[in-house]
This record gives sequence, C-alpha cells and structure tokens, in this order.
Amino acid sequence: MGLFKEDDTLIKRVWVHGAVVVGAGPSGLAVAACLSDRGIPSVVLEKTNCIASLWQCRAYNRLNLHLPRQFCELPLMGFPHNFPKYPSKNQFISYMESYAHNFSIKPRFNQGVHTAVFDPDCGCWVVRTNDFEYLSRWLVVATGENAEPVIPEIAGMESFRGPIMHTSAYKSGEDFENQKVLVVGCGNSGMEVSLDLCNHNASPHLVARSTVHVLPREMFGLSTFGIAMALLKWIPLRAVDKLLLFVAHFTLGNTDKLGLRRPKTGPIELKNVAGKTPVLDVGALSQIKSGKIKVMEGVREITRRGAKFVNGQERDFDSIILATGYKSNVPTWLKETDFFTKEGMPRTPFPDGWRGENGLYSVGFTRRGLLGTASDAVKVAKDIWEQWRKVEEIPNPYSVINRL
Ligand SMILES: Cc1cc2nc3c(=O)[nH]c(=O)nc-3n(C[C@H](O)[C@H](O)[C@H](O)COP(=O)(O)OP(=O)(O)OC[C@H]3O[C@@H](n4cnc5c(N)ncnc54)[C@H](O)[C@@H]3O)c2cc1C
Ligand SMILES: NC(=O)c1ccc[n+]([C@@H]2O[C@H](COP(=O)([O-])OP(=O)(O)OC[C@H]3O[C@@H](n4cnc5c(N)ncnc54)[C@H](OP(=O)(O)O)[C@@H]3O)[C@@H](O)[C@H]2O)c1
Repeated sequence: MGLFKEDDTLIKRVWVHGAVVVGAGPSGLAVAACLSDRGIPSVVLEKTNCIASLWQCRAYNRLNLHLPRQFCELPLMGFPHNFPKYPSKNQFISYMESYAHNFSIKPRFNQGVHTAVFDPDCGCWVVRTNDFEYLSRWLVVATGENAEPVIPEIAGMESFRGPIMHTSAYKSGEDFENQKVLVVGCGNSGMEVSLDLCNHNASPHLVARSTVHVLPREMFGLSTFGIAMALLKWIPLRAVDKLLLFVAHFTLGNTDKLGLRRPKTGPIELKNVAGKTPVLDVGALSQIKSGKIKVMEGVREITRRGAKFVNGQERDFDSIILATGYKSNVPTWLKETDFFTKEGMPRTPFPDGWRGENGLYSVGFTRRGLLGTASDAVKVAKDIWEQWRKVEEIPNPYSVINRL
C-alpha cells in the first residue's frame, strides 16, 4: 500500500510490528539489542550507509576512548577480553559490528528520517523518510547529541585563502605537515587535534575563548573518571571536585598560566549543570608547556592570510580547523512535541529524560557518553516490554499494510 508525494513518486507505507528506532549509532544498536533480548522486534532507520557513522566517518584516526573500557560497554555484551583499557576507534567500531551481528540487528540504511509526528487518530507514530512511511506505536530517538557539527560564523571567514574544516572532517595531521594551523575550540577534540598536528610537524595555535577544566586522564595509575565515580558514592560532589582539582593542580600545574583558565565551578558540577565536558589530557598539555602548541584567546576576525585575536595580535595561517563541537538535530525532524528543547535535548533532565508521551523515548541524550546510552537503553526496553506484553494480543489497525 502506498501514498503519493507531491512529485507523484510513490512512498511505501509500512506498519512496524515493534518499535521504530531512529539512528544506528551505539544508542540505536543498544536499544535494539535490549528490545530483541525481551523478544520485541524493532526497525532501525539510519540516514547513512553504515552503523556507528560518527565513529566510522566523522572521527579522526588517532581517536581512542578517553574512559576505560568498563565505562563504554553496551548492555548485554562486553568488549572482547583482549581489548586494551582504552580501546581505539577501530576496536570500538569492530565491537559495534560484532554487537549488531550478535543481536541480528540489520538497520535500514539510507533512511534519513525527515519528519516524525504522533497521529492521535491511529495512536501511532508516523515516521517519514524519502521513500517510506513507517507507522509504529513506539518511537525511539537515537540520533545522538553530536548529530551535526557546530560551524560558528566568525567575521571575515569567507575571505580566508586556505581551507577551513570542522574536526568531524579531520582525519590526521599527515595532511597538515609543516603548516601553520589555527584550531578554534579547546574541548577534547581541539586539544587532541592540536596534539596530532604537533606529532606531524605542523604548528598549531589553539583558541581558548573561555574557561576550561583540564584533568589528567589518570591519577596514580587509575582513571580519573573511575576515581570520580567511586568517590561520588561516598562523598559529596563538591568535595570530589575539590579533590580532583587538587590532584590536577599537583600533576598538571597551574593551567591558568598556560592560557587555559579554569571555570569557578568544579568539573563534575559543571558537567551536570551546563553539560560542559572536562578535557582529559592525553598529551596536549605537555606540548603547550613546551610551546609547540600556542594558546590564544578569542579570535576577533579571520583575515585573508590568517586571524586577528582579541589581544590585538595578528598571525598568518595555512589552514583553520573548527573544533567547535556538535549539536543534536532532533528539532529538524521530530514535530509537534515539547519533549525536546529547541536545542534538541530532552526537556526533563537526567536521569528522567528517556521517556516522553505517547510511546516516545530517547536514548543517548544524557551528556554522559556511552555510560548514559547503556542506562537509557535498558530502561527504554523494559518500559516498552511492559506495554508490549499487554498489547501483543490486540490486532494492529494496519494489518492490511506491509508489515516489517
Ligand atoms: C570525536 C568524538 C569522540 C567521542 N568519544 C567518546 C568516548 O570515548 N566515550 C564516550 O562515552 N563518548 C564519546 N563521544 C560521544 C559520542 O557521541 C557517544 O558516546 C556515542 O557516539 C553516542 O552514540 P549515539 O548512538 O547516541 O549517537 P551517534 O554515535 O551520533 O549515532 C547517531 C546515529 O544516528 C544517525 N542519524 C542522525 N540523524 C538521523 C536521521 N534524521 N535519520 C536517521 N538517522 C539519523 C547518524 O547518522 C548516526 O549514525 C565522542 C564523540 C565524539 C564527537
Ligand atoms: N577520546 C574521546 O573520548 C573524545 C575525543 C573528542 C571528543 N570527545 C567528546 O565529544 C564531544 C564533543 O567534543 P568537542 O571537543 O568536539 O566539542 P565541545 O566539547 O563542545 O567543545 C567545543 C569547543 O569549541 C569552543 N567554541 C565553540 N564555538 C566557538 C567559537 N565561535 N569561537 C571559539 N571557540 C568556540 C567551545 O568554547 P566554549 O566552551 O567557550 O563554548 C569549546 O571549547 C564531547 O562530549 C567530548 O568529550 C571525546
């Protein structure tokens, strides 16, 4: 059965027996696996032609997980035993592939969802791609907090003589050997890309326009994140923050003196209230101390040959890399619901932002990385299962339509 689009091409309409999951990244795969484990089918729609597209297509080569493996595993299947403490990007991708294979998850690729809306008449979600309309009682949003690059408008950008790219397109410093490169943004991407540039004999200038917490990835041989998680069980958050900052000061020195001013709020509190991730240092700081990475305050203007900075200095550059972060794309396609803010994040804060109304769910919007994904996926699958048990016997209203 089909509908016609305005240009007279046919859209196929399918009733999904189970849930529609939008996005085949770690969150989409995790929820599909948890549903399958409870005997509930799902259809995973993915706009690109592969699973975990952020990791396969939009991450630089030297990327390793910054958190130890036990904090990055998805539910029901751990990493292989021979994986190191901090798996590489390629190891993570191979884990995702085995995960999808193990739970027989076969996403429908090249199915970018452009609208999803709840139809109160049929009591189901109507999810449209270019050539299909999927109908389902449950819609799981798993398109990620990092769906689209943030490209800021900086005065004069259009006049720059060289290439300007976002970190999502950056692969390796090999392409920038002997170049002077301006890296705008000093989150984990900006710091790590600057380090990679240094390792390939490029000369990066890193823009830190505001404050940032830099912490060592490990303290006393243990992961900083792991220490923080353990301490939070016993002592108040602000005390944990104080302790982390004390050790960070002791091991890294005063980062303010390097141009990386610390926020007044502690790193965990800041992450919780503003979603701002601390940088876990994997070597960039020592290159800043040695002067190989130069830290600059904000950019005032991009010129044809380089940039003018807020402190009045002017420098020539060959390339500009925007390490300016990412944003959710949910508001562009999920319509007529106020479950998400205009920034595309659940309005209800963690830990309750996974369930909306009318069978709407989100997985992976907790600002807690893969740990948040795992916890959401388990909760969502359980909640759908509780309804599934009751409705399984009721015939669906679209039994005449193609079923998936
Ligand atoms: C460089 C980088 C490194 C990171 N490293 C870590 C790390 O070490 N540890 C950690 O915990 N987190 C890390 N993160 C955060 C990371 O984004 C998540 O942990 C993880 O990828 C989130 O998975 P996700 O499935 O929620 O989102 P994504 O991985 O972004 O997957 C979302 C999927 O949805 C698809 N999609 C988007 N829009 C649509 C649409 N309209 N229709 C259909 N499909 C759509 C996308 O193509 C994508 O495949 C990193 C992020 C970046 C950018
Ligand atoms: N190995 C890893 O685990 C790893 C590696 C990379 C990334 N990640 C994760 O991926 C996510 C995204 O990280 P990210 O570093 O890409 O983005 P991010 O954490 O959002 O950092 C973006 C940076 O860009 C700056 N910025 C934004 N607009 C700017 C402008 N117009 N001018 C100057 N600076 C500007 C921000 O400054 P302000 O703070 O002033 O806004 C911030 O410093 C995070 O969760 C991160 O932890 C993980």
